[in-house]
Order: sequence, then structure tokens, then C-alpha cells
Amino acid sequence: MAGYTESPFRRMVREIEPSTILVSELISAEALRRGSEKTLRMVQFHESEKMTFFGKNKAPRGGFGIQLFGSDSDAFVAAAAVVEDLGADFIDLNFGCPSPKIVNSGNGSALLKNPDSAAKMIEKLVASTSLPVTAKMRLGFFSDDNFFSTCKNFESAGISSLAVHGRTTQQKFSGRANWEKIYEVKKLLKIPVIGNGDVDSAESAVEKLGNLDGVMIGRAAIYNPWIFRQCRAAFSGEKIPETPEISERLDFFRKHAELATEQKGEKWAMIELRKHFAHLVRGVSGAASFRDRLIRVETLEQLSEIFDEISRSVHTASDV
Ligand SMILES: Cc1cc2nc3c(=O)[nH]c(=O)nc-3n(C[C@H](O)[C@H](O)[C@H](O)COP(=O)(O)O)c2cc1C
Repeated sequence: MAGYTESPFRRMVREIEPSTILVSELISAEALRRGSEKTLRMVQFHESEKMTFFGKNKAPRGGFGIQLFGSDSDAFVAAAAVVEDLGADFIDLNFGCPSPKIVNSGNGSALLKNPDSAAKMIEKLVASTSLPVTAKMRLGFFSDDNFFSTCKNFESAGISSLAVHGRTTQQKFSGRANWEKIYEVKKLLKIPVIGNGDVDSAESAVEKLGNLDGVMIGRAAIYNPWIFRQCRAAFSGEKIPETPEISERLDFFRKHAELATEQKGEKWAMIELRKHFAHLVRGVSGAASFRDRLIRVETLEQLSEIFDEISRSVHTASDV
């Protein structure tokens, strides 16, 4: 997710739940082909994010994919070669982004307006790389009329698995995601199909899974990265672990901040972490004042001091 799933956050999620499949932020195939420095920084990942093999049977676990957007097949082929060199586990194509900046240049979900040409692009890309190529799409651009044929088309073009957000581009995030359509398309395809849209707890993941091969979680992971551990437990029939209390959440962000500082430098790390702070202190007494100070934080030391204060205030409140 653009602006959120950078490497430090993904590493933290990997630590929470090793079986999570992680995907990069949105990466421009064209910029990767050009070797843009900013883009090359965005595709950095840590060894721990990659797929591991565990147990006697060496079963694959987790994995990391780089998510590409674009509309030029040569750019996709060139970008795929870079992704392969970097050692990611798979390439994920974006056919879902509704953002005007992306769609107005014919990328993201705009490609759903012409599924035949998107399928040709996929075919060329798949033929050029040894990595699995997955896709994430919406039900359609204006309507879901061509949804089934588009999915069949993408499967024939060589997509290894398909993740579907159960809304059209026009719907953006309004209403509820239509999972019925995703269950229907699963019956028509041989490849794994992953459902997406409005999963906000382990219970809802289990409830929505139906005949699908997995669920994809977006917004809820920003507020609760422990949701992946909770889902794994729920899918295994185990007791669902509680979402951690504030002290563990603060420890998570301390470590997240350290990893982000290592990768981006202190100043940028603090700026990028600000968006996480509003929900971090939700429910803590004095939240507004902590939030006010947190969004101005410039150093790890300042962050740590405020976190210590939050911790003390929570303990004092619970002692009373
Ligand atoms: C801040 C933000 C950034 C997102 N970035 C991407 C992205 O880069 N690629 C993508 O396929 N979807 C992206 N999405 C959409 C989500 O992956 C997901 O399809 C959508 O939020 C619905 O799922 P949810 O209800 O679990 O959030 C983004 C969503 C949000 C809120």
C-alpha cells in the first residue's frame, strides 16, 4: 500500500507473523526501467521478507513481491528483469489503483477498460521472466460486466494468482465489497484466487474466505498489524490472540522507527512515521496532546521520550 508498506513496516509484520505474504508499495515499471534512484530506494527489501522453507517437507512460507504499475509492455519486461536481479519472490501487477494520477495516464485500474491489451502485456511479461507474475484487480472500471471474461483472459495470459478487490474503480471505497462475484470467479479459474475488501478482523477473514485460497488485508493492517497473526490462528482453528495493549504497540513503533531510521535516515523516518501516530494513541488519556507532539517529532530520542511518557501515563491510569 502506497505510503505504508515500506520495508521497515513489512519487516515488522514478518516478525509478527512469518506466514504473511508481503507486497511492496506501488512501483512504476517505467521508473524502474530508467533506474530512477528514488524508485530503486523504494524497492529495497530485507532478506527476512523473502519466502522461507520450513519443516521436514520444506513447505514455502511467506514471500515478498514487488508491485508494478505501468502500461508499456517493454517497460514491464525491463522492470521484471530488475525485480528478478533484486531477488524478490514474485512480481505483482497493479490493475486496481483508482487514483486519478495513475488512472489518467492509462495505468492501474484504467487497464481494465481494455482487458485484451492488458492480457497481451501480461503474456509478454510472463514469457520474459522466471518469476511468478500475480495480479491485483478490481471488479471492473465502470461496472463489473466484463469481470469474469477479464479474469479468464488474465489466467490464460499466464497470471499465477489473482487478488480481487470486490469493488469497481468508480466505487472507490464506497459501499461494501462484493465478495459474491469473487466466489463466482473462483469457480471458473484454476489459479489461486484471493479475496479483498473490508476484512477488518480475523473473524471477518474466516467468515469471508468461502471457497477462496486466501484473503488480502489492506487498511486494517495499518491500524492492527497483528491481524495477520490473528488470522493465522483463526484459520488454524486456534484461539485468536488479543490485539496487544499500548505498551506492546509502543514497542512495535520504537522498533519500526529504528528500522526506518536505519533505512531512510532519522529525519525522513520521523516524517514518514507521523501518519501512524494518530491511531497509535487512540484511546489513551491525553491522546490529543500526545498526537500533537508526536506529529512534530524530529528525532528518535524525542520519540522515545514521548513514548515513555505515554507508557507512564497509561500505567498511572491503570494503577488508579
Ligand atoms: C493508503 C492506501 C494505499 C493503497 N495502496 C495500494 C496499492 O499500492 N496497490 C493496491 O493494489 N491497492 C492499494 N490499496 C488498496 C488496498 O490494497 C485494498 O484493495 C483496499 O484498501 C480494500 O481492502 P481493505 O478493505 O482490506 O482495505 C491501498 C489502499 C489504501 C487505503
